Amino acid sequence: MDERDNTKQYEVPQQPGPVAPAAPQETEENHSGGLGRRALLGAAGAGIAAAGIGGYALGRSGGPNAQDPVTLRYDYRGQRQSGILTPAQDYMFTAAYDLRTTSREQLIDLLGRWSVAAEQMMAGDLVGGEPLANRQAPPVDTGEAWGYPPSGLTITFGFGATLFQTADGQDRFGVADKMPQVLKDGTPRFANEALRPEECDGDLLIQACSNDAQVAMHAVRNLTRIAFGTARLRWSQMGYGRTSSTTVQQETPRNLFGFKDGTNNLKVEAGEEALNKHLWVAEGDDPAADWMAGGTYYAARKIRMLLEIWDRLRLVEQEEVIGRDKRHGAPLNIPSPHGKDEFQPVGLEEMDAEGSPVIPMDAHVRLVSPSANNGATMLRRGYNYTNGNDSLGRINAGLFFIAFVRDPRKDFFPVLRRMTNEDALTEYIQHHASALFAIPPGMGSADTFVGQKLFS
Ligand code: HEM
Repeated sequence: MDERDNTKQYEVPQQPGPVAPAAPQETEENHSGGLGRRALLGAAGAGIAAAGIGGYALGRSGGPNAQDPVTLRYDYRGQRQSGILTPAQDYMFTAAYDLRTTSREQLIDLLGRWSVAAEQMMAGDLVGGEPLANRQAPPVDTGEAWGYPPSGLTITFGFGATLFQTADGQDRFGVADKMPQVLKDGTPRFANEALRPEECDGDLLIQACSNDAQVAMHAVRNLTRIAFGTARLRWSQMGYGRTSSTTVQQETPRNLFGFKDGTNNLKVEAGEEALNKHLWVAEGDDPAADWMAGGTYYAARKIRMLLEIWDRLRLVEQEEVIGRDKRHGAPLNIPSPHGKDEFQPVGLEEMDAEGSPVIPMDAHVRLVSPSANNGATMLRRGYNYTNGNDSLGRINAGLFFIAFVRDPRKDFFPVLRRMTNEDALTEYIQHHASALFAIPPGMGSADTFVGQKLFS
């Protein structure tokens, strides 16, 4: 006989009562920005019905003015590569490859075949057309996005230092003299990092972003298949819940510490002058690497977040570590109960009644802000990741941090140095991988492969 007590009521522990006067409770009616969760679910359901296929959610692709993320389609060709300033999609699948060939022709051939396939997939087409013509041959396209809309897919290609020369200085493909100085200098070492070399850098990079995880997976899988025999996967990472916004049209998402992330990002609305200053490589930046003009640099950090330790911090401590309030993302200088406008200026100079800075000296937003780093500014475009759990039963998760910058030596490494040395956040995170790639400009209408100028 079953001895279990089926009448017992289980309860989730409730938040203890407030020790200070409680802030007015928010309702869906007074919620200031974007769609509430229930509204979002309804909207996502409508999206699924309209598309006629599962697996889509309007999610955090945008605020109220955003376009339908499922039917969104971006052009592969253009002055710049897509997937950088493009409104950050909900999912990312990124992969780095090691070349298995010493032939320049084979490398160019791979870049050409990748470019053709990328253009087809971004248009929502199958790689190589309909596979039904010959049922006796393996289909050219693997099929898992067959009939799916483009879902805002972007595919971005990059070149790593080892594409240009080997560790002992051998010119691999006749392009060593065109290697950007940024890649020659490489990524410096930082405090508190425990890097795994096999998960760092690589010869070639592919970043696929989409509002459907399966569309992003399909892109990387097919490009990997095309590379068979020429390039082999070195590392890859799936990411979700974009941790940035690249336009003010997007609602700010949250990272796995539960905080809004991407509020003070460099966004398209910053204007051409700011973007040219901090994002895009200009002619003359590096005379040996003039093929990079119009491109940018990709610097990534795979950062494990120690969720179980973080979750034991009191709310007030969590907010002091970040420097912003958790509910709305408003900077701590906005009087308590914190204002709802996350976009209020961060008051780094403001003092409390005891004469201490309202935003602590080791708060994340203080240490990484442009004003504390000689104006260094980056376009953040990272994603949350979860890779199962570790042997201690802790969720293996974190932030796949990505910055796009004109020059990482000015706009990224000094900020990362400050963060790894002084940031209160450091106690709750660990850097596990790092990657640096040159992102060439976009493919012109007459180009046949990405990065063509490098080889001409
Ligand atoms: C797991 C690691 C990290 C977490 C949890 C995290 C979280 C946050 C949060 C919650 C914000 C405030 C919202 C915003 O303005 O976007 C923020 C801002 C920012 N973060 Fe991070 N971040 C992490 C890593 C990094 C790294 C590696 C860098 C670069 C070195 C960085 C650079 C920035 C910058 C530049 C800002 C904007 C600061 C400002 O101007 O106000 N973050 N981060």
